[in-house]
Amino acid sequence: MTASTRRHGTRQLQVELGARSYPIRIGNDLIADAAVWREVCDRPLRLLCDENVARDWLKPLVARLGIAPEHVRIVTPGEASKSMHQVSACLDWLLETHTPRDAALVALGGGVIGDLAGFVAAIYLRGIDFVQVPTTLLAQVDSSVGGKTGVNHARGKNLIGAFHQPRLVIADSDTLSTLPAREFRAGIAEVIKYGMLGDTEFFAWLEGNMPRLLALDAQRITDVVERCCGMKAQIVAADERESGRRALLNLGHTFAHAIETHTDYARYLHGEAVAIGLYMAADLSQRLGWLAQADLQRVHALIRAAELPTEVPEGMTPEDFLRHMAHDKKVAAGRIRFVLLRRLGEALVTAEVAPEQLDELLQAHCATDAA
Ligand code: NAD
Ligand code: GLY
Repeated sequence: MTASTRRHGTRQLQVELGARSYPIRIGNDLIADAAVWREVCDRPLRLLCDENVARDWLKPLVARLGIAPEHVRIVTPGEASKSMHQVSACLDWLLETHTPRDAALVALGGGVIGDLAGFVAAIYLRGIDFVQVPTTLLAQVDSSVGGKTGVNHARGKNLIGAFHQPRLVIADSDTLSTLPAREFRAGIAEVIKYGMLGDTEFFAWLEGNMPRLLALDAQRITDVVERCCGMKAQIVAADERESGRRALLNLGHTFAHAIETHTDYARYLHGEAVAIGLYMAADLSQRLGWLAQADLQRVHALIRAAELPTEVPEGMTPEDFLRHMAHDKKVAAGRIRFVLLRRLGEALVTAEVAPEQLDELLQAHCATDAA
């Protein structure tokens, strides 16, 4: 269970995982507030971030926490930093700076930094604590919570990793003020996903509030982060290692991964591919007779209102989808397992999609340039 409490304008949720439970603090003007750091502020700290985030957010944080310059490591922004090469360099840095077992590693950045720092923390001295300070919308609503950490391999994304829960998550909406608009919108795709898979009331709220969200209304962003983290915290508490319900968080991702692989991870941000995947998953759900036609239209309209794509890339064929989806981690016993919608607000995992039904969907999306 997850309870939400408010202290001095800071909202707090708890991820309930027994001895590994941790708070998520959400609000604005948070990262330089000492009280927010109380669990770790008297511990030896190390901090990892990327160059973009360092530009605006490192100085106040380092000053507040009293972190020495040699205890800060700044890496190149982007997915390429999620590599075993970078893990090895981070371990060298931790050893060279005599980082003790009771230290905590602070991940200040987006999902790349969170996944990298989390994995390094998971394996350094067989595991030290880490703190997630997510600075992208995607990281605030998704990747900073739940303990999936890891890096990429030449054979695929996120193939090397560990479950390692953070000790604390601090989601400060102020940090989003410097995030490029395209990155912000990509994070909105994951937000829409939560409404679709588990909360129709939230979906309706998003329909009414999208323009204000895109205008970076701080109050609404905080509301969104709290709502999404609340849902994620409940799912993670119930199924930490994805043996069941946690797989619902992959709604839209089977199609999205095929699109990202097909376009060499160069054309779309992850959230943009997820937006297309969400629409395709909703369409497949409608074709199976589960999702109402009117709700499919609502999904389409909300994704478009967020200025996100719904159309598959030109030239991508049904065969391309099938080839890429065959390598998906969610293939079991030769059948693709899809996360689909029983209705808006209720998702399920199913391997029961007949090949002809999938083919019909892919033909429809690949043949037209209209959504
Ligand atoms: P990212 O970390 O690459 O950040 C996106 C870009 O925004 C980068 O260029 C970064 O430097 C910049 N940036 C970040 N915060 C900024 C800020 N406040 N101001 C200005 N620039 C800023 O990407 P992301 O979208 O946050 O995360 C994507 C990664 O997350 C992927 O590697 C994905 O696999 C991973 N992920 C992990 C989980 C999980 O559960 N662990 C879930 C979803 C995604
Ligand atoms: N982003 C999917 C998960 O955390 O399980």
